[in-house]
Amino acid sequence: MVSIQAFAKINLYLALLRKRSDGYHELCSIMQSISLADRITIKKTKKPGITLKTNLKITAKPEDNLVYKAASLILKKFKKENQGIEISILKKIPIAAGLAGGSADCAAVLFGLNKLLGLKLSKKALERYANLFGSDISFCLNGGTMLAQGRGEKLTPVPAVGRWFGLIIKPPFPISTAQVYKSVKIILPKPQSRQIITAYKTKKINLNNLNKNIGNDLYPIALQIKPNLKKYLEKIEKTNPLAVQMSGSGPSIFAFYQNKMLRNTALKQLEGLEKFPIETVKTGLKLI
Ligand code: C5P
Repeated sequence: MVSIQAFAKINLYLALLRKRSDGYHELCSIMQSISLADRITIKKTKKPGITLKTNLKITAKPEDNLVYKAASLILKKFKKENQGIEISILKKIPIAAGLAGGSADCAAVLFGLNKLLGLKLSKKALERYANLFGSDISFCLNGGTMLAQGRGEKLTPVPAVGRWFGLIIKPPFPISTAQVYKSVKIILPKPQSRQIITAYKTKKINLNNLNKNIGNDLYPIALQIKPNLKKYLEKIEKTNPLAVQMSGSGPSIFAFYQNKMLRNTALKQLEGLEKFPIETVKTGLKLI
């Protein structure tokens, strides 16, 4: 049996560069793992086949779940279809929230099956499988602080940011990543992005200059789809964070504070909202 913590991610910075001929968008993003995590446990069972268990009600067929698809491909590729596998997911990361929850679970299953079945796949090989199932699963396999390019799968480590304390607010509606990207109309040149990325690469980012070095091109688009988003951003702004920004394609909004105490005060002020305390972490997956 293997048990893994699969950490959520936020995009400290996300710039769209261009639309590609394959329909994806070329981007340049700084991705960051955060302490909010799902717990995935994988066991061998006597009965062949894949069983998926979760604490959430999932209405879709298990076969349509990313985790199921990844596990079934691995079993097929390594001719282990007769091996029974039970995957239990304790979900804490909200779904369709811009926090890569599904991607983190998928990364955990690839990593976990590699261990459980003794497949001896290298990190590079696991990344190749990851990229078959989504753009940010490769990041989730690695985690920490990374520059992500291409469609999000080309990763370059950048120096880890400090241990920052923050929070996440999850507005009470999902936003489909595909819908957000489909609604991109024009992509403006980003002269400032080179400077911002250089600042991350050269360890110049700290809590006091973070606000100048975050950004998300998908925010105005998500806002067109869900104008209510603004209300949640404004609520967080009232708690005087050092930096605040939507993550990924939304709708989750993250904010960072000078210290844990100020973060805890802010959490108390944000009554009646779905909220999570977070801190930055240095890995995407952790065996437990
Ligand atoms: O790769 P992933 O499955 O997470 O992406 C979901 C959808 O978001 C894709 O189908 C694609 O339409 C869009 N997308 C994009 N450009 C990216 C990443 C995702 O257009 N870099």
